[in-house]
Amino acid sequence: MDDLRGKWLRAVAEADDDSALEAVRVAALGKKGEISAQMRELGRMTPEERQEAGPRLNALKDEINAAIAAKRAALADAALEERLRTEWLDVTLPARPQRVGTVHPISQVTEEVTAIFADMGFSVAEGPQVESDWHNFDALNIPGHHPARAEMDTFYMARAQDDTRPPHVLRTHTSPVQIRAMEMAGAPLRVICPGRVYRADYDQTHTPMFHQVEGLAIDRDISMANLKWVLEEFVKAFFEVDEVELRFRASHFPFTEPSAEVDIRCSWEGGTLKVGEGDDWLEILGSGMVHPKVLMAGNIDPAAWQGFAFGMGIDRIAMLKYGIPDLRAFFESDLRWLRHYGFAALDVPTLHRGLSR
Ligand code: PHE
Repeated sequence: MDDLRGKWLRAVAEADDDSALEAVRVAALGKKGEISAQMRELGRMTPEERQEAGPRLNALKDEINAAIAAKRAALADAALEERLRTEWLDVTLPARPQRVGTVHPISQVTEEVTAIFADMGFSVAEGPQVESDWHNFDALNIPGHHPARAEMDTFYMARAQDDTRPPHVLRTHTSPVQIRAMEMAGAPLRVICPGRVYRADYDQTHTPMFHQVEGLAIDRDISMANLKWVLEEFVKAFFEVDEVELRFRASHFPFTEPSAEVDIRCSWEGGTLKVGEGDDWLEILGSGMVHPKVLMAGNIDPAAWQGFAFGMGIDRIAMLKYGIPDLRAFFESDLRWLRHYGFAALDVPTLHRGLSR
């Protein structure tokens, strides 16, 4: 009996997982188990023998059962202990920083400009940045010999010796989109054309790629007065002020007659730019009445229709509105710079909103 006890208690102690323990239980106490077989033996004993062996066997059975239960609990504890050790999470680690982008000032200002002109009934047109020489110059009354071609520091597309296609340039202004809009939609017409333009020029106030927005309105009897009103309304809405002073200076563009350059009153006092006050003027756009030859190039009859056009520097007005001193800052992608000028992050899930600013 002592041998039996020692054997099974050792087996229980040595079982190192649940299934080994279960195998021990079956081998000892299952239907065909060794202890169960011993219990059956009791029936063949004399009453005296049974009186002695019965209680001892029952006690042994209880003891093994208890040992198995204790061992099972110990195994469960050890398993939990192991999980706690391996599935450990360090909640004191700092969170991974959120990468939050912002809208680029140029994109934001383009949106603002588009929204304001949309309110005045202008739709949006786009044209190619690699533009035909004809759309960029000839159609705008700038013939091949015209000095404006040289003045514009044009990037010409490389051409093979035997290339017979019409010459192309990187558009030097958004004015060629005037022609494309006229070709596509005819008159009457009210359209703005924002986009990239290119000139071979690089210094404090010029970058080889910059942005313009063209405006074009064609109708039966449109005049300079309409142009002035539209520009004043735009400037007030864009700079969010009740009054902004504009100066129309007589000028010359081959594609408008008469032509005017428009300046905006501003101050540079203390190195920061303020719009609407001060003694300085900053040129923001060129404009005028569309030249009859330009209407003709766009298949519109100049005897029946007339219109005004303007071309405005988006980078310029972005600098003015947000007080950005150097054009070249637009090409730095430093978020601190964008935040400094108050540009908002793109919408992020509400959960992270607190982290994004
Ligand atoms: N295209 C001219 C420029 O780039 C601006 C302009 C547009 C002037 C339309 C008059 C009318 O300087």
